[in-house]
Amino acid sequence: MPPVLQPATKPTMHFIGVTTGQSSINAVFPRWAERLGLGDCALHGIDFAPGSLAADYRAALDFIRRDPLSLGALVTTHKVAVFQAGGDLFDELDPLTRALGEVGSIFKRGGRLHGRAVDPWTSGHALAAQITPAHWAGGAEALILGAGGAGTALAWRLANMPAVAGRPARLQVVDRVPARLAHLRALHATWPAAVPLETHLAAQTEDADAVIARLPPASLVANATGLGKDAPGSPLTAAARFPEGGVVWEFNYRGQLVFLEQARAQEAARGLRIADGWTYFLHGWTHVIADVFDRAIPPAGPLFDDLGRIAAAAR
Ligand SMILES: NC(=O)c1ccc[n+]([C@@H]2O[C@H](COP(=O)([O-])OP(=O)(O)OC[C@H]3O[C@@H](n4cnc5c(N)ncnc54)[C@H](OP(=O)(O)O)[C@@H]3O)[C@@H](O)[C@H]2O)c1
Repeated sequence: MPPVLQPATKPTMHFIGVTTGQSSINAVFPRWAERLGLGDCALHGIDFAPGSLAADYRAALDFIRRDPLSLGALVTTHKVAVFQAGGDLFDELDPLTRALGEVGSIFKRGGRLHGRAVDPWTSGHALAAQITPAHWAGGAEALILGAGGAGTALAWRLANMPAVAGRPARLQVVDRVPARLAHLRALHATWPAAVPLETHLAAQTEDADAVIARLPPASLVANATGLGKDAPGSPLTAAARFPEGGVVWEFNYRGQLVFLEQARAQEAARGLRIADGWTYFLHGWTHVIADVFDRAIPPAGPLFDDLGRIAAAAR
């Protein structure tokens, strides 16, 4: 069933996701709105099952476009689907957004509908909170599990970091959909001076175990599959061995995060540093709220720290 959309009665930011009612943002948003002085406004979740009909995504986008008090939306999980179903409804899409083929932020300026990919930037900010540029100096690589919208955005970010700023020696990406890996390889071929990329098709979970087993020490392992939140399980089996001194990043912060549990079981023995998706959540939401309400919210500094404290207390 497509979601029923009623015209907004006050300035409203929509949130297009799968289980939006369960997100911490519902408790956090009113407090952030107060801190940011956004006035009397609302956050409204629009739930789509993964793989919903293109016509339904398109109807939601067209609704936001036409409804005067609907100011925009944050898109999670369905970023690629929204782009594919309704890319032509946007008046403005920047070249990177078109190339990556995903929309995470929808907003209006002067009556024109804008869409843009935000994960290339927000994943970079979240990564910077976990890894210093010097970390990469010893030849560590990065393994991204999942080549959907968020995994591809992180791949763009890591592959294109200037060498002087520190970056992985190589990028390894695993997915179970050949077309996603082919899309990433085609994109990578257009990135001048990018780090080398290897893609791996994981027909079964053990295939990803084999890739992680070959990583050099201190490598980054990121779970961008959604497994543990959007669907049960982990992209690795319990037998997978994380790299010695590695950095482990689960993109989500809620759900039964099996991948995080697997990492925590090896944390002390293998000297891992582990993070969930909370900092990523903060960067993603502050970035899109800034777009939708046309405010400046820098990704670091006193205001960002304050919003982080408010979110942690409301969570
Ligand atoms: N914390 C945050 O703020 C934040 C920000 C961005 C994203 N995220 C989270 O990151 C996750 C990924 O987001 P997304 O938009 O990139 O989702 P997506 O487009 O659905 O991408 C996930 C990809 O991983 C693949 N996959 C699933 N299971 C796999 C397995 N066992 N082995 C290899 N590949 C597998 C999927 O294939 P199938 O299509 O066959 O399933 C899909 O290609 C979501 O859960 C999202 O909530 C969190």
